[in-house]
Amino acid sequence: VRFVLAGAGHVGRTLLDILAERDPLLRERYGVHFRCVGVADSGGAAHAPGGLPLRALAELKRARRSVAELGTHGLGALALLDAVEADLLFEATPSPAHVGPGGVRGGGGEPGLSLARAALGRGMPVVMASKGPLVEGGFAELAALSDWGAPGGPALRFSGAVCGAMPTVNVGWRDLAAARITRVEGALNLTTQLLLSRMLAGAPYPEALAEAQGAGVAEPDPTLDVEGWDAASKLVILANAALGVPARLSQVTVEGMRGVGPELLARARASGGRVSLLATAEPDAERYRLAVRPEVLPADHPLGRLGAREMGVVFRTDLYGTVTVVSGEQGPGGASAAMLRDALSLLR
Ligand SMILES: NC(=O)c1ccc[n+]([C@@H]2O[C@H](COP(=O)([O-])OP(=O)(O)OC[C@H]3O[C@@H](n4cnc5c(N)ncnc54)[C@H](OP(=O)(O)O)[C@@H]3O)[C@@H](O)[C@H]2O)c1
Repeated sequence: VRFVLAGAGHVGRTLLDILAERDPLLRERYGVHFRCVGVADSGGAAHAPGGLPLRALAELKRARRSVAELGTHGLGALALLDAVEADLLFEATPSPAHVGPGGVRGGGGEPGLSLARAALGRGMPVVMASKGPLVEGGFAELAALSDWGAPGGPALRFSGAVCGAMPTVNVGWRDLAAARITRVEGALNLTTQLLLSRMLAGAPYPEALAEAQGAGVAEPDPTLDVEGWDAASKLVILANAALGVPARLSQVTVEGMRGVGPELLARARASGGRVSLLATAEPDAERYRLAVRPEVLPADHPLGRLGAREMGVVFRTDLYGTVTVVSGEQGPGGASAAMLRDALSLLR
């Protein structure tokens, strides 16, 4: 499989590591070898029809150098798609977003949106890690260009964009086929799971945050997680993909975890459960009501016993009953492994 990789940061370079390390297993079990015919980062791009060395590329990126050293400074990822013949685009570029007075503002889903649009337009399947292109109206556009909109169209997969390794999107759209989904509940953000667990154990918020940052779970600026926007973005993607509703971020009622105080924590302790920043989708008259807010989950709730470093999602359905997925520690490679999983599912 000749692939182009756009974005070789944490997710992209870990994907390169996994593809290199798993090559013997992939050949033996699936009869497949992934060949990197092009790679782009913010500094430029490199390409080679015979394949670029995966481990050397990953090493180069770990050393904070640009892949352009092996190719062309200034050649962008879009131009790279023109320059090479490839079977697949792995997209792992940044999803810039910040929170302002009017709510969350993204980067218009760029550069991932243009890259996915260009690849799908050429009939090339796309596996994405970034959320940005899928939450700001891009989902409908990309779906229309891909197998989501027309059978036989080039495939578009993005399971890693929602909780990395934890199966969420794929369970929703594939494994619950033909069901009516009557409610979705998700603890979809690891940072807030950890913070709220520590606060439940008695740590004040600043102490819990410092600990989560020290452990590399919370970002130096945790706003998008703590204010609920990361969970809301994931909920929007789930709603589009699994519930089949054309949701956008502006339709989600978002309440972050800053209001979680002693009273809510005491109620959670008394229930034997926990508090989570819960993303929910419930049917209303026309489509689904989408919300993210702190909720007390008692011990008998499927997500009420999640550990500090666990995420989970519950689908309540008519045909399949209640389906719960829980995932623990993923390591740095969860989203990267999900990209491999998506690519393999296309080949099968
Ligand atoms: N990290 C996670 O655990 C995780 C989990 C799920 C989903 N995601 C999503 O996956 C995506 C990648 O995340 P990450 O953590 O790998 O981010 P990252 O470490 O910031 O890496 C982003 C990469 O994209 C490159 N890049 C920036 N602008 C570009 C452009 N115009 N064209 C081509 N490449 C460009 C960067 O280049 P330089 O190397 O030159 O800076 C870098 O290699 C994000 O959208 C994120 O939301 C991440």
